[in-house]
Amino acid sequence: MKFFIDTASLEQIREAHSLGVLDGVTTNPSLMAKEGISGDERVLQHYIDICEIVDGDVSAEVIATDLEGMLHEGDKLAALHANIVVKVPMTRDGVKAIRQFTAKGIRTNCTLIFSAGQALLAAKAGATYVSPFIGRLDDISTDGLALIEQIREIYDNYGIGTQVLAASIRHPMHIVQCAELGADVATCPLSAILALFDHPLTTIGLEKFLADHRKAEQTPVKAK
Ligand code: G3P
Repeated sequence: MKFFIDTASLEQIREAHSLGVLDGVTTNPSLMAKEGISGDERVLQHYIDICEIVDGDVSAEVIATDLEGMLHEGDKLAALHANIVVKVPMTRDGVKAIRQFTAKGIRTNCTLIFSAGQALLAAKAGATYVSPFIGRLDDISTDGLALIEQIREIYDNYGIGTQVLAASIRHPMHIVQCAELGADVATCPLSAILALFDHPLTTIGLEKFLADHRKAEQTPVKAK
């Protein structure tokens, strides 16, 4: 399973990249706003900056909601860098845009997926990725992971190549469970990736190894 980071923070992207396990980045308008990135030029430059840090797919979302607007923005985003994937919302015009981008060889990520039917439509239009939002489904007392399982089964039934990109991940167990269910990608906040490193027995075990090593260093070598 590929690990993407779900942020527009260059600092967090650099930190995740330095771990050596990062395969790509996803952003959205909320994440861009959180970093205070606004205005056409700054937004486009920010995507280029991200692409210069990570050699992997970078999802850049269109703001327009009409077909013509999405096509215009998507073309501009795709022209920025070979790693840009145009992120398009799951709407009727979004699906039409995905079909046209696919025909032109522009890769897409269909976002705001909350049902298997939506994932099937996006795949039929040729989406490179679909982004089911598992945390937001959990938030309304439904089962986000069940959606990952359902989409995986449907795509496998028909040999569909669209990649399942689990999004709206909230904690490290979401990442592990997505891997168990066969998601192709998990896009995660940095905190969830970092939490995967931690286990109390690892900490205790390392402390004991080092204490034993120090003790051995301080013990005089016995003469033979
Ligand atoms: O990639 C989509 C993701 O950013 C949504 O996450 O936490 O806002 O539900 P969240």
